[in-house]
Amino acid sequence: MKGILLHGGSGTRLRPLTYSDVKQLLPIAGKPISEYALENLISLGIKDINIVVGNVGADEVIDYYGDGKKWNVNITYTHQEKPLGIANAILLAKEFVGNDDFIVYLGDNFLQNGINYLYEKYIKSKYDGMLALVKVRNPSQFGIAEINGEKITRLVEKPKEPKSDLAIVGVYFLKPLIFDIISKLKPSDRGEYEITEAYQIVINKGYNVGYSIVSGWFKDTGTVDDFLECNRLVLDSLKYDTEELQEKNISGKTHISDNTIISKDSRILGPCYIGNNTKIENSYIGPFTSVGSNCIIKNAEIENSIVMDKTIIDFSDKFYIRESLIGSNVEIKTGNNNSKSMRLILGRDSKLEMR
Ligand code: TTP
Repeated sequence: MKGILLHGGSGTRLRPLTYSDVKQLLPIAGKPISEYALENLISLGIKDINIVVGNVGADEVIDYYGDGKKWNVNITYTHQEKPLGIANAILLAKEFVGNDDFIVYLGDNFLQNGINYLYEKYIKSKYDGMLALVKVRNPSQFGIAEINGEKITRLVEKPKEPKSDLAIVGVYFLKPLIFDIISKLKPSDRGEYEITEAYQIVINKGYNVGYSIVSGWFKDTGTVDDFLECNRLVLDSLKYDTEELQEKNISGKTHISDNTIISKDSRILGPCYIGNNTKIENSYIGPFTSVGSNCIIKNAEIENSIVMDKTIIDFSDKFYIRESLIGSNVEIKTGNNNSKSMRLILGRDSKLEMR
């Protein structure tokens, strides 16, 4: 069994962050979202993993994951020059796959309970392919699978009148027979080679395509709200090792990394994660907040947010930040006492909401 971890795509819904950053490397609790997926693949005993990188930030992905030695696996890379769809990304990794079965994991998808039980089912089955499915309340917004017994019969993208409430999750169990099918696909109306269409052809050809239902929560982190929701869920479920070390001003489930300085007049209320070498002064870091490494935070109150590495938030008076996704190397400052004017240097697609 081999693994493919996708790091391509346009990421339009996460702009402006995705102009400069790879969305799959955006951090949750100090770790890129895709590292959780990589750990999932590795926990199955998979040793050969190919990362498909896109046209933004390929070098950052390669720098971060390297040759995989850090995780004791072999990591290689495939370049997808244009975001022509998941099926296109898979086809580009054909040589890597060879004759093996393989799992394709979308680097921005998060499954609370991992994929081990899905893998067990696949290994024991005689399926020619398998999809992971999750029950959803609003099936018209998802790619939906219709089933009959243990088999998938039909896949429908965003059905107006859904016949099933089982949405397709971004983990695909495949055999090399898919490559021939993908190579004959035509781009869809949105200009992408669709993996659901390829699976449908496998089904139509009479192959046995099964499914496994995902237990626990599942998040596709393609939007800001979904990313923050995933941050909340992860922070809530992390195992914290610092609980017994807590001081008066630090309470709840908190992870505070090395060399981080929390001033006595600050208050930290978990669940939250604070990275290395960060300084927090006269501030409140509230529940469901991940703060990166090498940040400076002064006179701020932050809740339900992600602040990435090397960011400076320096307020003259207490100011409240909530439900925010703040990239790395960002500076947010206010002038002296009660200033009523702002100097803004915001790039395309930035959002500033005063609430
Ligand atoms: P999506 O999030 O559906 O698409 P996108 O990345 O283009 O984002 P947006 O809709 O906001 O513009 O992609 C699902 C996953 O598949 C995601 O992890 C990125 C990956 N992907 C590729 O690797 N290559 C591709 O060509 C596409 C379209 C997606």
